[in-house]
Amino acid sequence: MIPLKRRKVVPSGAGNTGNTGSEESSPNKFPQVILFLLERKMGASRRAFLSQLGRKKGLQVEEMFSERVTHVICENISGDEVVAWLESGVGGRGRSSAHLLDVSWFTESMRAGRPVEVLDRHRLQCLLRQQQMREAEVVGFSAPSYACQRRTTLDNHNAILTDALSLLAENAELSGEDGRGVAFRRATAVLKGLPEPVTAVTQLVGLPCLGGHSLRVVKEVLESGASSEVEATKQSERFKALKVLTAIFGVGVKTAERWMREGIHDLQQLRDSGRTLDRSQRAGLQHYDDLNQPVTRPEADAVAAIVEEALAAVLPGATTTLIGGFRRGKLTGHDVDFLLTHPEEGREVGLMTKVVSWLETQGFLLYQKTTRNSYLEAEDGPARPSSNMDRFDRCLSIFKLPVEVKGEGLNPWRAVRVDLVVSPISQFAFALLGWTGSKLFERELRRWAGHEKAMSLSSHALYDKTQSRYLRASSEEEIFAYLGLEYIPPSERNA
Ligand code: UTP
Ligand code: MN
Repeated sequence: MIPLKRRKVVPSGAGNTGNTGSEESSPNKFPQVILFLLERKMGASRRAFLSQLGRKKGLQVEEMFSERVTHVICENISGDEVVAWLESGVGGRGRSSAHLLDVSWFTESMRAGRPVEVLDRHRLQCLLRQQQMREAEVVGFSAPSYACQRRTTLDNHNAILTDALSLLAENAELSGEDGRGVAFRRATAVLKGLPEPVTAVTQLVGLPCLGGHSLRVVKEVLESGASSEVEATKQSERFKALKVLTAIFGVGVKTAERWMREGIHDLQQLRDSGRTLDRSQRAGLQHYDDLNQPVTRPEADAVAAIVEEALAAVLPGATTTLIGGFRRGKLTGHDVDFLLTHPEEGREVGLMTKVVSWLETQGFLLYQKTTRNSYLEAEDGPARPSSNMDRFDRCLSIFKLPVEVKGEGLNPWRAVRVDLVVSPISQFAFALLGWTGSKLFERELRRWAGHEKAMSLSSHALYDKTQSRYLRASSEEEIFAYLGLEYIPPSERNA
């Protein structure tokens, strides 16, 4: 910036060229326009001359810059210098909304005999100011490092960036590179939580979880609209085959890779191969299209109604709570998840078996596999979980959901993946927190508990290693409080 001399501007000829009864001036014909001519660079004598000219034409010309001034007339000076001068307050305080105009506006007005309309070409350019404003707009983002410290709604302002990084995460996971997968998931989650679209990679300086690789991808997408690595991955035969095969319910990465080594890359090849499939894979292949079509919220509600009917029939008083993505407000999901319990401890024992057999009798199940609870209660609370595996009674199922059909020949039902989990009321809050997701949010909660609080969190319990005891909780809010975290509602756990 050009240094400005802090010279005191003495109003040139104050008192004798003022607009006070001078015989030269005509009455103020344009009351909305009040001029101020900047002496700086224009020079005192030219200023005096122009002022007089203006007044003769009936314009009001002020000697001092003030609140009242609407048009500032300048000559041979840059807009930035004028702004700096005005801001320094040397010539008096005025309003920042006054037009900063080149003398050309003044001369044109003199010719026209009235103040002409202010056009862009009359305005002084404030390049420095514009630059500063741009810089002020391009503020860097900031965020705490754990996803469970952040509020991540479904309102994603950076979908093109997060889509790119999610795909790389998925590819890493499909390649057995779990560490890289988590790194991309964390980077994705940080971008999902930003309040605005990213416009420059420089805004991301200082954000957590964005490593060099992620930043390179972001930069490329911002600059060219796509990432070459993402595009190449999407095109890769290996990625495409892994996606198709693992999209079969019951097929994991290991199985898909084995099949690929044996030359199976798509569903037709799998069917033709005569490969023996287990019960879940057979169901997965049979209902492939339905299971890969997102479940809608109305469909989730229809499943909920069936589960409620089952509970009413087999154990009145038992309750069901929608968990997973739908509890976080998602409009679609890959499945529907429910947590079942009974307000009286112990009454939930055997509930899953009863629910499943009711559903089966009613013809609502196309497939189900129930795993038994192996979680042991110790005297002082739940036994410490030896791993993060959840050991509730759990049922992975495929529902035969009746649907309204429009048109003949269409199925009157569709297959929907449904997960049922039963928890005793004493562990309900932990189960609710653990099964609401998102997966990354859960992972981050456990990492926070372990690394920052010397605690161990599972879907059953919270163990305080410092005090060597379990911490009881009957609400999610209490668990957040134990963890020293601000409570984050489900709709803001979409990390
Ligand atoms: P989901 O895989 O159903 O994910 O797991 P989601 O968030 O509902 O998303 P979509 O829409 O179905 O794809 C739901 C929650 O259940 C937990 C996960 O950690 C997640 O938070 N979960 C899932 C477990 O704790 N254990 C499991 O074996 C499976
Ligand atoms: Mn789900």
